[in-house]
Amino acid sequence: MFTRNHFSRVALAGILGAFFSSTAASHVPGLSFDRIITIWLESQDYVKVANDPDFVELKKQGVSLTNFYALTHPSQPNYIAAIGGDYFGLDHDDGVTIPYNVSTFVDLLDWSGVSWSGYFEGIPSPGYMGGASIGAGTDKWDYVKKHNPFASYDSITHNGTRLLNLLSFDDFHRAFAADPQSIPQIVFVSPNMLNGGQNTTLQYATKWSTDFLKPLLADDAWKGQRTLIMLTYDESEDHKKPNSIATLLLGAAIPRDRKGTEDPTYYTHYSFLSTIEYNWALPCLGRYDVGANVFAAVSDLQGVYENIEPPDAKDWDNSVSYPGALNSDSEKWAPYPPPNTKVVGAGGQPILRKIKFKWNLDARDVPYDGSGTIYDGKRLPVYKPAVANVEPEDIPGAK
Ligand SMILES: *[C@@H]1O[C@H](CO)[C@@H](O)[C@H](O)[C@H]1NC(C)=O
Ligand SMILES: *[C@@H]1O[C@H](CO)[C@@H](O)[C@H](O)[C@H]1NC(C)=O
Ligand SMILES: *[C@@H]1O[C@H](CO)[C@@H](O)[C@H](O)[C@H]1NC(C)=O
Repeated sequence: MFTRNHFSRVALAGILGAFFSSTAASHVPGLSFDRIITIWLESQDYVKVANDPDFVELKKQGVSLTNFYALTHPSQPNYIAAIGGDYFGLDHDDGVTIPYNVSTFVDLLDWSGVSWSGYFEGIPSPGYMGGASIGAGTDKWDYVKKHNPFASYDSITHNGTRLLNLLSFDDFHRAFAADPQSIPQIVFVSPNMLNGGQNTTLQYATKWSTDFLKPLLADDAWKGQRTLIMLTYDESEDHKKPNSIATLLLGAAIPRDRKGTEDPTYYTHYSFLSTIEYNWALPCLGRYDVGANVFAAVSDLQGVYENIEPPDAKDWDNSVSYPGALNSDSEKWAPYPPPNTKVVGAGGQPILRKIKFKWNLDARDVPYDGSGTIYDGKRLPVYKPAVANVEPEDIPGAK
């Protein structure tokens, strides 16, 4: 439903969007940052991480997001959701294949020219499609597909150009050493099963992060390009409590006077999507990306986008998956919902035209209303006819 809030949240962003959408180059300056590197660690509760000595040290250099939630358990659905705007009922870590007509943020980038890549420690070759790889010379797992969401979407794996963006840590280190500015603008990083903490400990992973981040946080590391580093966790360890995780924003994109502060705004993994849409005035996916709060720490949002605490957010558990096409329980199967083709996202833009054309004739109800409401297995998605989250005259291009 349309509310005053949603009006003010996106109306002004539309104006900015119109300005930025004329930009198309291999390096596209963002509103608040020019590059985002999201690094995903494994399965830890917020409270434990917040007290870890290495994390406490890192916090001094960034902004700690103290009210950040994963979406469900186990790991994989959280990764899937962070790039596609839904986890489609997924409740397990086994291999999945998501049909070609379900888009990710990668589709949004073709429209704008913003570059991207994923770096996965231990991936044996670019675009590797296997479920896991055993580390050379050790008996430990190196790489696992469940921590690489790109490898599950047909819209990426059926496209050779995109597959070649799924690279290894060696590729990252080589590119960074040669020229930091050659690192793409949106970067997704998953360490291996040891360094991410899955088969080790919290301390092991935060120590690894500190070492990995050191060169990336050096003063002139990015030669003046505003780089935002987002250190996050896929899910909490405790499956019985609200899925509260630690997330830290670091890097040269953080204003000096914000370093060492906390931001208690309500965020989820969908905030990653919403923030990149905002920053580069991208069109939206028409799924749960729309309505997710934008990281306020990197800018004041300049009165352009209004974050809201969704009603009853404190009661959400986010620990059990809702029904969907990827649910392992046949009684909880439900088809892929069409996106809502009428909403406007945080970039002040409507759904990507290409996505709209694919789904335009699918008139089924949708669970996506742009309100920022989060659902889980106990609070099931509510399907309604697709309606806009802004007044028709405020939809960019409508005038
Ligand atoms: C890593 O942990 C997973 C469970 O998360 C387990 O199945 C696997 O055997 C472990 N691998 C190693 C090498 O310890
Ligand atoms: C494949 O990916 C590239 C880069 O994202 C894109 O420009 C191209 O349109 C894609 N091809 C198809 C058939 O979707
Ligand atoms: C999307 O793809 C799925 C799987 O191929 C297909 O069943 C469905 O009809 C498609 N929907 C649209 C609107 O293209």
